[in-house]
Parts: sequence; structure tokens; C-alpha cells
Amino acid sequence: MHPLGFYRDKNNELNVQGIKLDSLTEKYGSPLFIYDTGLMKERYEVFQNTVKNVKGNIHYAVKANDSVNIIKFFGKLGAGADIVSIGEFHKCIAAGITPDKIIFSGVGKDKNEIEIAIRNKILQFNIESEEELYDINQVASKLKITANICLRINPDIAPNTHKKISTGEKETKFGIDNEDIFSIYEKLHKLQYINPVGLGVHIGSQIFDFNFFHKAYSNLKTVADKLKNDGFKVPTLDLGGGIGIYYDENKNPDFETYKKVISDLFLDSEYKLSFEPGRILIAEAGVLVTKVIRNKKNKDKNFIIIDAAMNNLIRPTLYDAYHRIEPVKKISGKKIIADIVGPICETGDFIALNRKITEVNNNDLLIIRTTGAYSSVMKSNYNARVDAVEVLIYNGNSYKLKETDNILDIISKEKIIEFI
Ligand code: LLP
Repeated sequence: MHPLGFYRDKNNELNVQGIKLDSLTEKYGSPLFIYDTGLMKERYEVFQNTVKNVKGNIHYAVKANDSVNIIKFFGKLGAGADIVSIGEFHKCIAAGITPDKIIFSGVGKDKNEIEIAIRNKILQFNIESEEELYDINQVASKLKITANICLRINPDIAPNTHKKISTGEKETKFGIDNEDIFSIYEKLHKLQYINPVGLGVHIGSQIFDFNFFHKAYSNLKTVADKLKNDGFKVPTLDLGGGIGIYYDENKNPDFETYKKVISDLFLDSEYKLSFEPGRILIAEAGVLVTKVIRNKKNKDKNFIIIDAAMNNLIRPTLYDAYHRIEPVKKISGKKIIADIVGPICETGDFIALNRKITEVNNNDLLIIRTTGAYSSVMKSNYNARVDAVEVLIYNGNSYKLKETDNILDIISKEKIIEFI
């Protein structure tokens, strides 16, 4: 058996499931996203184990990586899905996830999206405002189909993560204030085509201090217990996602501590729980392989210019995110400090700044690790750059995930206007 993920062989070359990474770029070109189903499965099963003490279902947060085959792979392992748009809904259906396993989250579901979701009888809507409730009720009444509703609480907790992915503080657009939950939950019961199913919370992503989860979940439970005392049914609690992963070292997420938090609060509890993990399931199972185009030296700075750019991986630019970068072949040798940058015409187009790395030659390959989540899925075609190819490694074989448009395909979709 090969080690999971992307590992070095005895010649120090990077492999996945016994396949050399450079043979994959030879076949598919560069830049290239590669995903290892071996590690995806392992991560899913470890998470399943983490929450096995409590009654609960796993809903893969599709936004982390919405490739149909990746959704399908988690679906086969038993996952449902957490979606935030009807586009993601259609991807889930194409991936074989049935609507009764789909949770629809997000602050801005429009009425067309709501209608499609209700017609298909999705498991539940996690709603984020009273206004949204009335929109859903209107559509549900028109269709005469009952919609299951869960209220997302905003507990006003700052979980010490990057500002742009912190979602549980009062000033963010997410969730309903704690104090308003009671009156809205009561209102749910007065609407004919609305079926209240519980409460949910998601305070953000990349969270390492699990006391914040404990705080958010115990608040959720307190509110739910109060509602139950008042005579309301609160069958489910949705605990969201957000577990942090280690981008800067080869270390597993802290499943043990998460298990303690969950067991502490929900062991023997009557609530049926939902979990919405995204990043922990897929981030480490993906890498982006890129080719060095050129080494450039300014007076006191080195630049390694690569063929991947912020249109392939925007996390460093957007969140100052760190991704480990290594040469595919050469790991020993002289080390230099360099900015590792793409060809896009913006100073913000970088993958790493002031990074210590083995000196590389033009045409050498580098891997950018931990790019399975929130990477290719956030791509763009800025600077008329085409999408990177993506391949999935399954049972020792590589499979292209989708056809990518070349630049002529892209241009052919533009409508040419005759100016006179
Ligand atoms: N549930 C809800 C309602 C969410 O909004 C999210 C993520 C998740 C679950 C999954 O969270 P995870 O387990 O993946 O942390 N683009 C950013 C991350 C945005 C996360 C958005 N919501 C990044 O690259 O770091």
C-alpha cells in the first residue's frame, strides 16, 4: 500500500498512489490540480468516527470543492450535502445526492432558488432572517408543499479567525440574533406550509480554539432547551463546519478535541445533529502542480515566476493564506528567499512572499500543497487565463474531472457586435 496523499519516494520524487506527479503534468499539462481519493476517504472516515458517539448526519459543504465527482465520492461514502445556491443543488443531483439529504444555507436565496428547492423537497432550509421566512412561506403556500425550516443563530462570537471568514459576530450578515430566535421560532408554527425542524449555527471557518465551538454549541443547546420547555419541538441542531487545518505543517486536524466538545455537550442528548464539514474533508487531499517559467532577480529580491496565478489560487491574495510549496524533484540544495508569483499583472498576484525555498531552475515543477478546498472552486479567467486541468486519483488511476475551455472556446462564446 502507498502512503496517503502526496509523498516522496526513495528518490525523493513526489508521488500519489504510486503515480509520479511529473508523469501527470506530462499527460495533462500545467498548472494541474490533483486530488487523492485515498486521503479524502480517510478524512471522511475519521470525521465519521469523531462524531459517532452522537446521533448525527454529515453534510459535505459543497462550496469547499464543487466538482461533481468530488461530491459524488463523498456521497458514496454516505454524506449528504450543505449547499448555498441552486447551482450547487444541481451539482449535487448530478452527483447522485438525493434532495432529502440536502441542507440549503445562505443569506440570499432568491425566490426562484427557493421554488426549485421546495419542488424537489430538500431536507431543510437554514434561514438567516425573518424576511427570508416570509419568502419561503409564500412559495411553499403557492406550491402547497411544506418546507422544513431551521433557524441559524448569530451568537455574537468572534472565533479568532481571518476577518473575511468569521461569520458568528453581530456585525456580519449571517444568522439571526439570539434574542430574536424565540419570537421567530414561535412564528414558524403559525404558518401552514412551514415545518420548524430546529436551530443551527456556523461561526466561521479555519477555527483552532475549539472553546469557541463549545461556546457556540452550548448557546445553541440552551436556546433549544428553552424552546422545548416552552412546548415547541426542536428535533435537530445543525452545528455547521469550521474546523481548522494546518496549512504550514504536515499535521492532522484536531479531531480528538472536537470529539470531546461534541461528546461533552451531546452525548445521550435527544437532538439529532447535522455537521457541515468542508475544508477538513478535501483541503489536504489536493495539490496544485505548477511549472517555473522564469527566475528573476532584482537588486535585492528573487522572484520565482510560475505558471499558476491568483486566478487559480486566490487564497494568499484574499486571506494572506499560507500554502506550503516544494519542488517536485529537488529538495536539497542551496536555499534562497523568494517571492513566488504568477504572470498576472497585479502586485497582488502572488502565491508566497519572502519564502525560503530550494533554488529551482526554469521548467522545474513545484507543488503548492493543501489546495483541495477553496482553491480551484474560487478560480477566475482574469487576464484571459484558461482554467487549470483537474484530475482525481482513484484506485491508482488518474481521471480528468472535466473538460476545460481553451482560449478559442472562451472567445467563441462572446457575442461579436458589428460596429459601424
Ligand atoms: N457551513 C456553512 C454554513 C458555511 O458557510 C461553511 C463555510 C461551511 C459549513 C464549511 O466550513 P469549513 O468546514 O470548510 O470551514 N474561502 C474561504 C473559506 C470560506 C468558508 C465559507 N463557509 C477560505 O478559502 O478560507
